[in-house]
Amino acid sequence: MSFLKYTDRRRFLLQLGAAASLAASARAGWAMAGGSMAGMEKIAPNKASPDFKPDVEIDLACEPGVARILPGRETAVWRYSARLVKGPPETLTLLPDSYLGPILRFQKGQKIRINLRNGVSEATITHWHGLHVPMLMDGHPMYAIDPGETFVYEFEMRNRAGMNFYHPHTHEATAIQVYRGLAGAIIVNDEEERALGLPSGEYEIPIVIQDRSFDDENQLIYGGGMHGRMVGFQGERILVNGRVDYRLDVASRAYRLRMLNGSNSRIYKLAWDDGSPITVIGVDGGLLEQPETRPYVMLAPGERLDVWADFSGRKVGSQLTMASASFYGVLPRMAERMMGGDLPVGSEYPIFTVRVTRTVSESPALPERLAKIERYRLEHVSNPNKATPIAITQAHMSMLINGSAYGEDNPLPHERIALGSVQLVEIFHNHGGGMGMHGMGMGGMGMGGMGMMMSMAHPIHLHGQQFQIVGRAFDDGEPDFYSTMREGFITSGWKDTVLVLPGERVRIIKPFQDFKGRFMYHCHNLEHEYAGMMREFWVE
Ligand code: C2O
Ligand code: CU
Ligand code: CU
Repeated sequence: MSFLKYTDRRRFLLQLGAAASLAASARAGWAMAGGSMAGMEKIAPNKASPDFKPDVEIDLACEPGVARILPGRETAVWRYSARLVKGPPETLTLLPDSYLGPILRFQKGQKIRINLRNGVSEATITHWHGLHVPMLMDGHPMYAIDPGETFVYEFEMRNRAGMNFYHPHTHEATAIQVYRGLAGAIIVNDEEERALGLPSGEYEIPIVIQDRSFDDENQLIYGGGMHGRMVGFQGERILVNGRVDYRLDVASRAYRLRMLNGSNSRIYKLAWDDGSPITVIGVDGGLLEQPETRPYVMLAPGERLDVWADFSGRKVGSQLTMASASFYGVLPRMAERMMGGDLPVGSEYPIFTVRVTRTVSESPALPERLAKIERYRLEHVSNPNKATPIAITQAHMSMLINGSAYGEDNPLPHERIALGSVQLVEIFHNHGGGMGMHGMGMGGMGMGGMGMMMSMAHPIHLHGQQFQIVGRAFDDGEPDFYSTMREGFITSGWKDTVLVLPGERVRIIKPFQDFKGRFMYHCHNLEHEYAGMMREFWVE
């Protein structure tokens, strides 16, 4: 089977140096079953509306630049840079030594205006992953702006406190633009969170995890050939906040680590190397009702984790490493071993190291109760007996959802969602043996054959409001590999991205309130998204 043959990986790697049309070459190299938006009319970039009175206004630009990541030559990157036009100074935290965009800090209820200027050489548009905003403000690919243009976003922050993620959502260029460096974190605060007095300021640390590969001249390389296209890019170096070998100097007290997996495809199994459990206080959509303690936590691309890390009692000079611990089953077994160079997927490797550099005597205590969450039950949904399907198909040359790739403009019947409704949604694998659910089966690739071979985990992300996970189960009983991940899934909080393992069926309940329009849902393995594993809900 050619998928499993691993030949001369280097041959396929693309160099992301000064080359002018690298996205174009990447596109050519990665051309697959992706849909096309050809014929899409160019829409004039959104302008500031005179009636909108912002509390916060930011100029945000996508620009080429350089970053010092490895010793020696600087690395050519693209990055977001920002300037505060109006609003509290804590709105922007610049990360000067990083390619990562500044951290944007907003308060619930704020009216926000962001002037996005395209300073790179191709079209782009930015999406605020996790935020509940109108379609026009959501970074839909149809709103992409050309080089030199500015798109004005205006919205009110409706989200509860939590960490979110901004990144491009450009048609057939999200993966490459994120890879080049266009990514950043958004932190939202609210009253409920403030009342808890959680560690803040220098005790609240963003941890944005990404992986990259570099050539001998320290320039980014992207690719991986056929295998990379199928399973997604797996870099050979781990970066935290845009730095390799990330080290965090701490005092002996409690910290709040705001973690985000900003990798294109790599899945992590986070664990402290000394065996200490991980105390989770929040996930994608903010704080949990109460802390959960786990031996390890899985973190897939697009997911966030709010971790309470208490270094009290540790001696000055002591160290602790957050690692990715070993697991298997997210990729076909052979691919797990061959992807990622020295860092095979599911192998054990360090992510960052904490070093205690000073002792302090005071430390806040972990609250027993964190936040109030109204749990959805089946009686709240408008379709209790007929879940809205998200059927994932990954076959040899196609990555589909519900039998279709992105770009086929018309919604399927179940993709039309009534505004204001709360929906039961079921995400599952459709290996397409025989007829697919819409008569578009991938003939001859049923379970047990190619289907099983190709089976891998997909982090499925839905735009718009956060959802709740109400069920996870395996269609054919628990597979062996599950024992390496079972305790790593937090299902109690608000989510916008959920990792669906091979053979797994995940049921979620999601509200579709406030805004009509087209809201994407897709695999957040960005190479899969690129290949067409994306669809839209038409809320109407
Ligand atoms: Cu993080 Cu549709 O994206
Ligand atoms: Cu999103
Ligand atoms: Cu996927």
